Amino acid sequence: MRPARLIARAAAYLERHGVESPRATAEILLMHVLGTDRAGLYARAEGLDARQAREFGRALCQRCAGTPLQHLTGEQAFHRLRLEVRPGVFVPRPETEILVEGARRELRGAEHPNIVDPRTGTGALALALKRERPDATVLATDVAPEAVELARLNAGRLGLEVDVLLGDLLAPVPEDLRGWVDLVVSNPPYVPEEEYEDLPPEVKAEPREALVGGPEVYERLTAEAVRWLRDGGVLAVEIHAEAAEAVSAILGRSFADVRVHRDLAGRDRVVTGRRP
Ligand SMILES: C[S@@+](CC[C@H](N)C(=O)[O-])C[C@H]1O[C@@H](n2cnc3c(N)ncnc32)[C@H](O)[C@@H]1O
Repeated sequence: MRPARLIARAAAYLERHGVESPRATAEILLMHVLGTDRAGLYARAEGLDARQAREFGRALCQRCAGTPLQHLTGEQAFHRLRLEVRPGVFVPRPETEILVEGARRELRGAEHPNIVDPRTGTGALALALKRERPDATVLATDVAPEAVELARLNAGRLGLEVDVLLGDLLAPVPEDLRGWVDLVVSNPPYVPEEEYEDLPPEVKAEPREALVGGPEVYERLTAEAVRWLRDGGVLAVEIHAEAAEAVSAILGRSFADVRVHRDLAGRDRVVTGRRP
């Protein structure tokens, strides 16, 4: 069967099982199995061999059973980067690119800035910012050893010099950077406990501790950031769409010029503040 027909059938199967974006999902999985891009997929005249057919069928079943698409392909595009992803480490989301853009704007005018990304996961924010600002010194931390390992691997594969350290928030940052950090940027776990049960299976396939959090994660981060940032340095955080007021109030206790930034859908997505 030629790819176009195969995709139509696979998309119908995914749709029957309630999978979001069934056609795009079928295409991505088939491109992955065949090791080709979109143009190669549709230019292909022959069908699948037995191994490819088995692999594609298995991937479709796993996706229907709730395995995240990115765990099946092993990668996720993020802000002009292609990151390796693995089960056990949070998959970067497109909405976090708003945080990269907000952080970049805040860094205008700072030369050779020092940037820290506590809670880095795959390294997404740290690596995207290093790519945009090659003059920056970028450090990333995570409490999960598997995240540290993956972020280091992504940094190596992409040839981006980012130091990834194991530990709690800013604790692993070298002491001589105290008072010299220009930007602390973080996408912390912020799904309210009471929303967790209703999350779709592919989201629940991620580590719970990378998802669930509340105001306390912003309180700790604010208290630590204020000790590491230079005067005029910036804290930029991603937030739950309903949390802008609460998070702004937390930052407002220690930071000036606290602002809420919206995503393209008009939802509150990022809060920034400047150390006075
Ligand atoms: C929501 S994920 C965000 C990952 C990444 N920043 C992104 O946007 O794709 C949160 C990450 O924070 C890490 N984490 C949770 N608590 C932490 C802490 N106290 N210190 C450092 N990392 C932590 C988790 O292991 C997880 O990788």
